[in-house]
Amino acid sequence: QTVHLKDYQPPAFLINQVELNFKLEPSATLVTSLLHLQRNPAHPDGRAPLVLDGQQLKLLSVEVDGQPLAASDYQVTENHLTLPQPPAEFVLQTQVEIDPANNTALEGLYLSSGNFCTQCEAEGFRRITYYLDRPDVLARFTTRIEADKEAFPVLLSNGNPTEKGELDKGKHYVIWEDPFPKPCYLFALVGGDLHPVKDSYTTSSGRKVALEIWVEKENLHKCDHALESLKKAMRWDEDTYGREYDLDIYMIVAVNDFNMGAMENKGLNIFNSACVLADPKSETDMAFHRVESVVAHEYFHNWSGNRVTCRDWFQLSLKEGFTVFRDQQFSADQHSPAVERIQHVALLRTAQFAEDASPTAHPVRPDSYIEINNFYTLTVYEKGSEVVRMLSELVGWDTFRKGSDLYFERFDGQAVTVEDFVNCMAEVSGLNLDQFLIWYSQAGTPQVKAEGRYDAEQKTFTLTLKQETPPTPGQKDKQPLLIPIKMGLVSRTGHPLPLEIDGEFHGTETVLQLNKAEQSFTFHHLESEPLPSLLRGFSAPVKLSYAYSKEDLAFLLQHDPDGFNRWDAGQQLALTTLQELISAQQQGQDLELDPLLINTWKQLLEGQPEDPLMLAELLQLPSEAYIAEQYECVDIDAIHIARDYARKTLATALYPEFLRLYHLYTSDQPWSAEAQQLAARRLKNTCLSFLVVTDAAEALQLAEQQFQQADNMTDQQAALTCLAHAENNQPGDAALQAFARQWARDPLVMDTWFSIQVTRPHPDALDRVKALLEHPAFSMKNPNKVRAVLGAFAGQNRHNFHRRDGAGYQLLANAVIELNKTNPQIASRLVLPLTRFQKLDDFRKGKMKEALERIQQEKLSPDLYEVIQKALVS
Ligand code: ARG
Ligand code: ZN
Repeated sequence: QTVHLKDYQPPAFLINQVELNFKLEPSATLVTSLLHLQRNPAHPDGRAPLVLDGQQLKLLSVEVDGQPLAASDYQVTENHLTLPQPPAEFVLQTQVEIDPANNTALEGLYLSSGNFCTQCEAEGFRRITYYLDRPDVLARFTTRIEADKEAFPVLLSNGNPTEKGELDKGKHYVIWEDPFPKPCYLFALVGGDLHPVKDSYTTSSGRKVALEIWVEKENLHKCDHALESLKKAMRWDEDTYGREYDLDIYMIVAVNDFNMGAMENKGLNIFNSACVLADPKSETDMAFHRVESVVAHEYFHNWSGNRVTCRDWFQLSLKEGFTVFRDQQFSADQHSPAVERIQHVALLRTAQFAEDASPTAHPVRPDSYIEINNFYTLTVYEKGSEVVRMLSELVGWDTFRKGSDLYFERFDGQAVTVEDFVNCMAEVSGLNLDQFLIWYSQAGTPQVKAEGRYDAEQKTFTLTLKQETPPTPGQKDKQPLLIPIKMGLVSRTGHPLPLEIDGEFHGTETVLQLNKAEQSFTFHHLESEPLPSLLRGFSAPVKLSYAYSKEDLAFLLQHDPDGFNRWDAGQQLALTTLQELISAQQQGQDLELDPLLINTWKQLLEGQPEDPLMLAELLQLPSEAYIAEQYECVDIDAIHIARDYARKTLATALYPEFLRLYHLYTSDQPWSAEAQQLAARRLKNTCLSFLVVTDAAEALQLAEQQFQQADNMTDQQAALTCLAHAENNQPGDAALQAFARQWARDPLVMDTWFSIQVTRPHPDALDRVKALLEHPAFSMKNPNKVRAVLGAFAGQNRHNFHRRDGAGYQLLANAVIELNKTNPQIASRLVLPLTRFQKLDDFRKGKMKEALERIQQEKLSPDLYEVIQKALVS
């Protein structure tokens, strides 16, 4: 069934208080719930029945105000418990039995590595007990948990612990009380043999908060980084947004089996262990960064999500877009802002743009869904964050902060909408943001065509901007958006020029507001033809084109005052050069790399780099996915061949330069998290990857040496990847074996071991994937393993996944069919690469649709049904 935004109705009943009692048993957990219910005066029908959500529950009893109900007083269906004529105010008691041990969907209450844990967002609570499972029903929760003391010594839930004790038969119990009313998607429970790392934090108003990270014993040494990150995030939210934490305790629990990254349950975050555990010996710098940003993200939700929550799931981006924006600001403050921006934009422009052009395209605020789990997407999260970023740029930071204060103050304890948020910004800024709201309702990536004309006589430069958003499923006609274009003009001698528009001076940088289909802006008093630098800092999530020559791009790469745009000019230069190779390849001509690119890179590599981290970014060729984004008809093979050729040619031509930098940034100092070292590792390993593609014996030796001697996972893994991706598989296979012996007992490290192999660029990749699916360390039941093998293969090994014989598609389809039976959420994510066939050749298109049709023969979960349906009608 499809749910529509326009059909929203307030709930017929409110729940003031909830008392839950869990008797934890792996296969037969008893859940008793007392709901203090009351008719909602805001509901139009004063005699509406009470319809509670519930799935896969064994109902044992129902009582109203202490009286058992006769079977005729209620109805039970697959998804609901209905009381047709309930009193206006009453206490409902239900008792149900659930089976956490057989819960492979990892929604609701389940077992992970023998520990009980929960995941309730979005609609998992209905798998725990009968309830009004919707975010606009906020209640106070008291949770009593009872379990075997030996097997489950630790029992956690939201809020503060108020009572605990021993019971007969080796059992014990704990009672938790959460003073803050919350929707049930923020409920959490944990029971298991876990161990804490403890610390405390004092808020700026002097409240002392206990901090606890709970993990399996063997992971206790991997918690320091998450703890430090949490304290940084708490301080940052006080300093930047004036937001303080509100309970006496903040807990994080790491679990091995988790569908997503982490979950912001009130006072009791539950994390995928991959997003909390980090030790330099076993986790890379990238993993450290991920831990810091996810810990911060979940912490920031305590205000943007928990204190102020969503009215309904269509408003998901209200909390996710804003919280991603906040975590990106936080990361920019901890690290290099330009590099942070580059990495976020790279993700957005490949994966989110591809989603926006696919059959599953949807607005930041979708207007309908079958399964809400399908909408935890890059569009809702990443594009949603871009929309908030534009808002902050439009009104300015100080005003944005005022708007944010107003939002938190006005709506504290409420469930609200995107309009409520935007209206706060309109109110404090005095701006009319009606047109801006279209960003939330219109899907698709806007294309902005920019043209510049210099008039030597008038000494003017006229910039004409045209916007157009391509049609997306269900949205044929698009309206013009308000698009902020941050820009400047650069002289041909490399200086920023003063901007004069209609007699007004704007310094050397301004934000043009494009709000019509076409608009022109004329800049005056320009002695010679300038070069425009457009969309600085990626000021809007659009595809902007301007007819730069390659020389212009090389010039901007050197002289653009905006760090992000310097990088982007480099990317465009590489892209243009790659596109020439792709055409040559398609026409059967010999490939020849434009020496301009080689010389530009040579200049970058010479001398002492000013900013090694930035240099490492400048030395990334656009990914195959990003190259594919530029085409209407994508030639998978030509893209791969051209990029591979460019990589090898650059590596060969600049071998001495790469080698020099490799040595310059190799140190024998022990690992540290410090920024300089981190940058050095990144640059050095970038150089190593170029050295090794030349197949030079010396380069392979360097990689082997680094692999053996590394004291940290960043260097060890980088070297392993170089070896394992080399055409000659012998040194790589030996290193892979050694690595597996060393790390067999660390599941997170084994995830990377899997991923490295399945992303091998050579034709044997698919056979390796097949073999790895049979490996004893692999499990279809563990989402991290599924992502490490199948997700990484389909997502990051494009040309092997898209093999012409369709074997890649068949492999993925088989896995999806299997997962459909056990974990619908994961199945429905894993299938997405099969739905991205719009721009491929007819042959591949046919094979992909065949694979989808084969999946469609199965009895599908709503999750998969929705995605496959959309793909096959497109
Ligand atoms: N709210 C979580 C976050 O921090 C994500 C949870 C999503 N869960 C799901 N089943 N779709 O982003
Ligand atoms: Zn979130």
